[in-house]
Amino acid sequence: MYQFDKEFDRHGTEVIKWDRMKQDFGKKDLIPLGIADMDFETLPEIVSALKERAEHPTYGYTYASEDYYNNFIAWNKKRNGFEVKKEEMISVPGIVCANAFIVAALTEPGDKILMCTPVYDPFFKVVEQQKRTLVKSSLIRKNDRYEMDYEDLDRKMADGVKLFVLCNPHNPIGRVWEKEELEKLNELCKKHNVLVFSDDIHSDIIFEGHTFVPYITISEDAAKRSVCVEAPSKTFNVAGIKTSVIFSKNPQLLTKVNEIITAFHVGVNLFGFKALEVAYKYGEAYVDELCAYLKANAEYVTKYIEENIPKAHTYVPDGTYLLWIDCTESGFSQKELMQRLVDAGVAPNDGSHYGEEGEGFVRINIGTQRRRLEEAMECMKRALC
Ligand SMILES: Cc1ncc(COP(=O)(O)O)c(C=O)c1O
Repeated sequence: MYQFDKEFDRHGTEVIKWDRMKQDFGKKDLIPLGIADMDFETLPEIVSALKERAEHPTYGYTYASEDYYNNFIAWNKKRNGFEVKKEEMISVPGIVCANAFIVAALTEPGDKILMCTPVYDPFFKVVEQQKRTLVKSSLIRKNDRYEMDYEDLDRKMADGVKLFVLCNPHNPIGRVWEKEELEKLNELCKKHNVLVFSDDIHSDIIFEGHTFVPYITISEDAAKRSVCVEAPSKTFNVAGIKTSVIFSKNPQLLTKVNEIITAFHVGVNLFGFKALEVAYKYGEAYVDELCAYLKANAEYVTKYIEENIPKAHTYVPDGTYLLWIDCTESGFSQKELMQRLVDAGVAPNDGSHYGEEGEGFVRINIGTQRRRLEEAMECMKRALC
């Protein structure tokens, strides 16, 4: 049994979530519910492997071991039902930088890049920073379930979209896209010849009753028109180590991406290679227990809000450790909403950052100890009642 309830102080580790409260929210002692890393200890085998490597007092240039590749391949075969080959993988430090490389490799300035909103906001920045054209399609909200608007996607793709950004599971609304939904998406991408970047960073955190369906497993066409990314960073709380993988079944696309990465001389450091290798070797039980703990946290918050904060509403997502909380009925402007929450002692993410659909919403990170969440809920109640 892993000790997800165990509390410890993260202050003083130069971690953005805890040590940058004053800069980011103007106050020091807030409960951080924002930036998406967890307050849990990582897998003990990762700590041991990194310690062991750190004990050797030389840190020269390194390469990925055969175990690194084999463990990533075996993890995906067993847990996600697909086979990727070593030559179909590229190691990169992070997913946002992978996104930036893929946009640079597969699109030209001015090209249209489409995504469903609300969505993880660095996707917008990558498009803007590279002078591509951002095209958004609002997700349709049906009670507590968000769906893609296929008619809107069809219309927008018909207007010359080059790349679709798929977030699966989808941050911040927590949907794990189902096979039929991805099939419909693939039909449209095929019809309009749109490439797909599938960001699967949250794909290990899937709650009971849901199944992660990787886009590349949808059809031969989906496999050929997509470049995907995965990482142990969210799953095992090793985001600061910077270790991620790009993979694709299309050698032409992969070559283009590799050319860009080679041109910028970017690589993973030795601790990144080691952490990924060990995570995917020993991490199964950890992930299963983690998902159960997070689901119970999501259920707790959902129930607490339902019973205690009538002007807010949330739901248990299909996966991820993010909850999307609708505060529109509070009547506060976005600025007031955030200020009241901060004044009451919590620091969530501002929902409007994820797109205009997020006005009146906040996103909270439930990857923390239950006791801390209970305290955070008291603060939210004070802010919103
Ligand atoms: C969908 C998504 N992609 C990427 C990232 C960040 O990835 P990285 O830290 O590897 O750049 C996050 C972090 O929250 C995320 O939610």
